Amino acid sequence: MRVRKGKPMKLLARKPLELLLEEMKGEHRLRRILGPIQLTSLGIGAIIGAGIFVATGAAAHNVGGPALMLSYTVAGITCVFAALCYAEFASMVPVAGSAYTYAYATLGELFAWIIGWDLVLEYAVGSATVATGWSGYFQNVLAKVGLVLPATMRSSPWRFENGFFVHTGSYINLPAVVIVTIVTIILVKGIQESATFNATMVGIKVVAVLFVIGVGAFYIDRANWHPFAPYGWTGLNFFGLNIAGQQNAGGQPVGMLAGAAIIFFAYIGFDSVSTHTEEAKNPQRDVPIGIVTSLIVCTILYIAVVAVLTGMVKYDQLDINAPVSLAFKQKGIGWAEGVIACAGVAGITSVMLVMMLSAPRVFLAMARDGLVPRSFFGAVHPRFRTPWKATILIGVSVIIMAGLLPLDALLLLTNIGTLFAFVIVCAAVLIMRRIYPNAERPFRCPWVPFIPIMGVLSCLMLMFSLPWDNWVRLFGWMAIGLVIYFSYGRKHSVMALNLAKEIAEHGAGGAYTSGTHEPTSRQA
Ligand code: ALA
Repeated sequence: MRVRKGKPMKLLARKPLELLLEEMKGEHRLRRILGPIQLTSLGIGAIIGAGIFVATGAAAHNVGGPALMLSYTVAGITCVFAALCYAEFASMVPVAGSAYTYAYATLGELFAWIIGWDLVLEYAVGSATVATGWSGYFQNVLAKVGLVLPATMRSSPWRFENGFFVHTGSYINLPAVVIVTIVTIILVKGIQESATFNATMVGIKVVAVLFVIGVGAFYIDRANWHPFAPYGWTGLNFFGLNIAGQQNAGGQPVGMLAGAAIIFFAYIGFDSVSTHTEEAKNPQRDVPIGIVTSLIVCTILYIAVVAVLTGMVKYDQLDINAPVSLAFKQKGIGWAEGVIACAGVAGITSVMLVMMLSAPRVFLAMARDGLVPRSFFGAVHPRFRTPWKATILIGVSVIIMAGLLPLDALLLLTNIGTLFAFVIVCAAVLIMRRIYPNAERPFRCPWVPFIPIMGVLSCLMLMFSLPWDNWVRLFGWMAIGLVIYFSYGRKHSVMALNLAKEIAEHGAGGAYTSGTHEPTSRQA
């Protein structure tokens, strides 16, 4: 398949799969040491965090009611569709950059830029969301030892209520600012991704969640589950036009489906398993097992936690900042509250580390392709060997967002950005099957095209279950990105420069302009 000459060709020029694999040869190869259990554990470590510990409260309270149990099921199934598509790509192109790289190989440079820019949004805004959630639990721990922060530094200056920003009386979310600063310093100095650290964190989180389920089950009052779906079963709108279900006073969709779009945040992170493909002993089998098992385990745990929480405390009395631990306080089990709050702090911290680690690495992959300034975003610290400049830039941005913006606004923006990335990954699997039909796929997504199409549709459905102003923010972010791309990235793209050189030398039929190159084997 040839790409047309001229400007569109440059924009849609794809990075040949063989070139990606070639580039990998120059990189340090990682040891294949991870089996299915370790991969599953990595997935669970990246998934369980502020979503279940924090977002559940407001989602049950204002949007889903006890039907939030089903919202978690819907969001979990949506993620399984996307996860299977991720797994196929990860096994084909196990290189840094994740979805950005997949898009470069399939949809071309412009889409690669869009998704790379989108991933930065997901990781940076997601980190700020997690930091804000961390702050709620940390203050819960402080309160247990009798310490209370001054009201001016407990939260963001605004909270998001029915689509409007309302002043809280605080000036800054100080704990969030402090934790992001500490994590940024740790990431600049570099951390070894330690299997022991991850296993400990996963252990703490899973034990805490099982504890909530096991102990909380004794305090369930079935009457609290009625009404089961006080806000209805759907909640869909099309750019402000209500399509199905109820709306709140601010015109935002509410209901079971709208709840799924909010708590979708709780599942973000499973895609990180795909970044470990290169270290998997048997990637074809173990990476999909790791992704899908971690998702299924988390889905089951999440549904059980929500069932217990909404059974313990009436949905409209759940706390917004630390709902899980405070549900136990509301039931008079103070000691359990302290234990869960500590586990929440530890568990949420580890998610923040993963997210803040990822954003600069997406920039790094883009810098290597010349799309953002290499001298800044590609700079690796001579001593710490980390992308320190990009890490500090992301850290400062996250500090500003976490210090000043409310959790719900941050969370919704992260969700729409991530769902958008998943739509592109699912579509890219279909495209990749067409343009490289015979390329080696150590893992093949089953039931193509059904699964990728379901992935695209279900992610779009959740995007349309979010308050529509998030689309405006997403478009705004993308518009900024496109200005940067057309004023910088396009002119400095390594691919575009090679392409121009190749056309000058051989005409439009070489590796960069043709999609027919089809590697049939992957280096070991
Ligand atoms: N899934 C991660 C969390 O809930 C992002 O914190």
